[in-house]
Amino acid sequence: MCGIIGYSGPLEAGNILLNGLSQLEYRGYDSAGIGYFDTASKVHVVKETGKVAKLKETLSSAGDGSHCGIGHTRWATHGGVSDVNAHPHRAGRVTLIHNGIIENYHRLTQEFDLESSLLSQTDSEVAAWILDRFYDGDAQSAIRKLAECIVGSYAFCIMFDDRPGEIYAIRSVSPLVASYTPSGALIASDLTALIPYTKSYFVVPEGHIVKITGYKISVFNLDGEKTAPEMMEINWNTDAAMKNGFPHFMLKEIHEQPEAMKNTILPRMAKGLPDFTDDGIPDDIFAGCSQIHIVACGTAMHAGMVARALMEPVLRIPVMVSIASEFRYEEPLINEHTLVIIISQSGETIDTLAALRLSKSYGSRTLSIVNVKGSTIARESDYVLYTHAGPEIAVASTKAYSVQLAALYMISCRMALVRGSFTKSQASAFLTDLLDAIPAMETMISRKIEEKNMVTHLINQQDTFFMGRGLDYAFSLEGALKLKEISYIHAEAYAAGELKHGTIALITQDVPVIAIATQEHVFSKMISNVREVKARGAFVILLTKEHAQADQGLADIHIRIPDLDDRFTVFPIAVILQLIAYYASVGKNLDVDQPRNLAKSVTVE
Ligand code: M6R
Repeated sequence: MCGIIGYSGPLEAGNILLNGLSQLEYRGYDSAGIGYFDTASKVHVVKETGKVAKLKETLSSAGDGSHCGIGHTRWATHGGVSDVNAHPHRAGRVTLIHNGIIENYHRLTQEFDLESSLLSQTDSEVAAWILDRFYDGDAQSAIRKLAECIVGSYAFCIMFDDRPGEIYAIRSVSPLVASYTPSGALIASDLTALIPYTKSYFVVPEGHIVKITGYKISVFNLDGEKTAPEMMEINWNTDAAMKNGFPHFMLKEIHEQPEAMKNTILPRMAKGLPDFTDDGIPDDIFAGCSQIHIVACGTAMHAGMVARALMEPVLRIPVMVSIASEFRYEEPLINEHTLVIIISQSGETIDTLAALRLSKSYGSRTLSIVNVKGSTIARESDYVLYTHAGPEIAVASTKAYSVQLAALYMISCRMALVRGSFTKSQASAFLTDLLDAIPAMETMISRKIEEKNMVTHLINQQDTFFMGRGLDYAFSLEGALKLKEISYIHAEAYAAGELKHGTIALITQDVPVIAIATQEHVFSKMISNVREVKARGAFVILLTKEHAQADQGLADIHIRIPDLDDRFTVFPIAVILQLIAYYASVGKNLDVDQPRNLAKSVTVE
């Protein structure tokens, strides 16, 4: 969670660090700081609570003339949000930034008798002091000893007072990528900070020490031997990480969905059929499994819920969906005949990664759906299907959800073909329907959702309910999450038939109910459920297909999507639900892209 950047090179370090922190801010934004060597090779640290923009103001000309430094934007775990808990931490000759959690920091504090030295409440400062104890002029040896003490996850960037121009880094689980560019050497938590400077990078291998100077980057294993990391290409451009005229990243990313869908689907179509040859995914993983287990968190898990409702009726094998943070501590009923599908936009979510590792230990075959190339989950899975959404910067996931669904739909289709549940012509028709969902998304993006009076109604309410049946219920889970996380309006998603088993007690005059009714086989049942809440005074926003028969006056607002096969309505529905949440957040004047308490990438438990 936290964003890390380090730079050494010929350019002004201050600018590079601050710009990098702005790019990484979506990883955490409760405080920020930088540490740098000044022109006299003395280390300075400036850090404070608040966002990077505030730090920029505070710094103004500080850091001028510096050519080496490290920067951090924090999402608090150990210790509250305060200036002193912000990074970098200084300890003797050490200046350190950290992303991750040191689980045994309390024991280490006692073992190294650090209580009286600590200024902050963070686990990170403990690491800084231990490093200072170990440091006798040999940076690598001190870092190795530190790594041996720590239980937990970490990405550290470190400067030593007597080594101007040098940055050292090491990671375990928490991500770090690095690149040597004509503008100097850079290291960061993720690619968004590197994009302006380079097209090639490497993922810092776990348990390796990286040494950065102004003219080169060297990587060493824990035996001190130099190793050559695998270089990778960045296929995102600078524009992808800019707002490009949109007021918020979220709105831009909503608009990017049709393109992201095409980029994810079209390269995997051959003769009208799904084809994963270029991804190196063999058909035997689909043919040989007797059950599917999908594991993910948050929005990615909701994509899995849609896939379950889609796959089971077609494939006629059990499809289970688990929340990764639960799954990792269970004894899951999976084995070598289980295909475990892991879904993660970032490819770094710690619980999802742990679930992947657990699945492998049970002998299951693992296929991950990941957006960030080279991320840990992608590298550790048996097979990976990359989604091509480009960088998703807004904390609220939008385009990543759509492309995760697109990937899952393609997997379902390939699997049905391989297992004989679909004929070639059925598979081809399925993909045609999937492609037809793209213009339907475009239609919904262009409808003026914000001009309907629902947003005015929503923003004055404390609670809302989403309801649907079958696939529509799966869609509503994501709609409720979107509204909660960026508008702070309490929202619950219910299987519509379940509402009257308790929750309907909460429906009173004007409580908004967003009813999704796109599934024809349960349409009349849904309409009855809508009548039940309407009879209790609810303010109903009804979402149906274009030609659905719904009585005038049944809903306060009725939004119609283009007529699609029932299995594909999620795509335009997702757009509407995202826009409802977006305009509710804007209507309440909230920070749409960086909602309170959240961070984009959850790399701590
Ligand atoms: O990077 P991941 O897909 O693994 O992230 C999982 C969740 O943290 C994420 O989907 C989160 O729920 C969304 N950002 C919410 O919009």
